[in-house]
Amino acid sequence: MPGSLHKKHPLAIRWFHWINFPVLFMMIWSGLLIYWASDVYFVGSHKLFPQSFYQAMHIVEKGDDGKFHGRLALGMGWHFSFMWLFAVNGALYVLYTAISGEWRYLLPGRQTLNEALQVVLHDLKIRKQRLPKRKFNGAQQIAYTSVVTMGFGSLLTGIAIYKPAQFAWLTSLLGGYQVCRFIHFWLTMGYCAFFVIHILQVIRAGWNNFRAMITGYELIADETLAATEGQE
Ligand code: HEM
Repeated sequence: MPGSLHKKHPLAIRWFHWINFPVLFMMIWSGLLIYWASDVYFVGSHKLFPQSFYQAMHIVEKGDDGKFHGRLALGMGWHFSFMWLFAVNGALYVLYTAISGEWRYLLPGRQTLNEALQVVLHDLKIRKQRLPKRKFNGAQQIAYTSVVTMGFGSLLTGIAIYKPAQFAWLTSLLGGYQVCRFIHFWLTMGYCAFFVIHILQVIRAGWNNFRAMITGYELIADETLAATEGQE
């Protein structure tokens, strides 16, 4: 299959993306260590995470006394260290996207919702027509813009529950400590859901797409290039 290499992702975006992955992982893991110490959320009459979940995820450890202990202090230490990396990396990503003009590929427009629906129908194999050959389709634009907005939400609600006395104005502006904690927690669950779908989509899209996020270049077959010529 003859084809040619085409630039897809700028170097800076690839760095921000791959730095974000382990950093977010650390934030979620350390967040769980903190949550364990006061696991207030229930599904019906059951705790959201059963003891078996904490054990399987090594959130708790068996002490010399044979009992399971949490690691709140360790969780706080990691959480309050990595949050700076998460914030700086995220802010630089948004800044770079704004300045470089990359935001044009990412931000949803008037057609986005309709296109996202077409993408879902296409992925479910209900709709057969070819999708527009653009860097990001409507579904990707919604997913990526949402996850970046969620990141901003995590930072804001995080500050509100980190220093509720110093940032009392922010905490109360956002609805109070309990509301901020609730949003902060459920945004984390949102990242986990995003992650599962993102990985499934990356696997489905294939090696060429994944490699482009590492090398920056994607291989486009000559026939695809010819077929999409003239399209947006
Ligand atoms: C092993 C983990 C991950 C893999 C393999 C992966 C892979 C990829 C790939 C291949 C792309 C390009 C996708 C495309 O063409 O649509 C992409 C884009 C993106 N991913 Fe991930 N990803 C991972 C983790 C994450 C995480 C944890 C987040 C954030 C919570 C994330 C957020 C994004 C965003 C926002 C974009 C669009 C970037 C841009 O071009 O500005 N990814 N990812």
